Amino acid sequence: MELNRIYNENCLETLSRMPDDFVDMTITSPPYDDLRDYNGYHFPVEDIAAGLFAKTKPGGVVVWVVADRTVNGSESLSSFAHAIEFNRAGFRVHDTMIYAKKNPIPSDCGKRYRQCFEYMFCFSKGQPKTFNPITEPTKSAGQKITAFRITSGGRGNVPDEDIGREIKSVRKVSNIFFYNVGTSSSKDKIAFEHPAIFPEQLVEDQIVTWTDEGDVVYDCFMGSGTTAKVAQLKNRLWLGSEISAQYVEIAEKRIGAYLAQPSLTASG
Ligand SMILES: C[S@@+](CC[C@H](N)C(=O)[O-])C[C@H]1O[C@@H](n2cnc3c(N)ncnc32)[C@H](O)[C@@H]1O
Repeated sequence: MELNRIYNENCLETLSRMPDDFVDMTITSPPYDDLRDYNGYHFPVEDIAAGLFAKTKPGGVVVWVVADRTVNGSESLSSFAHAIEFNRAGFRVHDTMIYAKKNPIPSDCGKRYRQCFEYMFCFSKGQPKTFNPITEPTKSAGQKITAFRITSGGRGNVPDEDIGREIKSVRKVSNIFFYNVGTSSSKDKIAFEHPAIFPEQLVEDQIVTWTDEGDVVYDCFMGSGTTAKVAQLKNRLWLGSEISAQYVEIAEKRIGAYLAQPSLTASG
């Protein structure tokens, strides 16, 4: 299978040619709920979940970024339907993370609060083999842990073995990730010729968390090529599928500038 290229085809075709246990990570955003018109293409989630399970290495992950449309007053629950399909296909639902938008598009949501997030489901094939957590400084670094902790629900008791231990200087960030969206998503003007691009920082945060340099990252709905660009810049191998020739052209123009090396071929 050729790496560092986008296959202009239905991802099911790419998956059918891919060797089993081939990719370390998939990060993608499906064309959910016909929310946008991607030249009229649809996708069967059951088959895609099964295909991704077979092609993911043991310990590999799929980060599936998805939200719901409101239809006749009710949210579609497509995101949870997808999570159930991935679980049925054999994946663990390792973590349901939130992608929160700092500057969501203003809209009139009737008797609802402004919609400002999407789910980032992390599905894993067994226990994730790689976890390079993003950390933040702790406020009480160096102090000793006391017998209780003030929590949102009041005073919480600390396990005996933790009492007296020194508080570390950093801790893992929470699983709600905040990003500026819209024009802040990328500096590449051409990317905006696609209607639904990922913030590049979101892709970077997920790729560095779940993979190491040299690992293989796949995006089955490559769109404007955000995953390809970030994987390339982070020294990962990558491949993608995109059904629309128009979007492949946009993605190739966009990432051309970042591709210093010719395509590499992985064994298998
Ligand atoms: C939400 S967009 C992905 C955008 C991408 N994350 C980015 O940053 O540009 C979904 C993409 O999936 C493509 N698509 C839809 N069905 C597909 C299929 N069966 N196989 C491959 N690509 C498909 C659409 O053309 C669209 O570009």
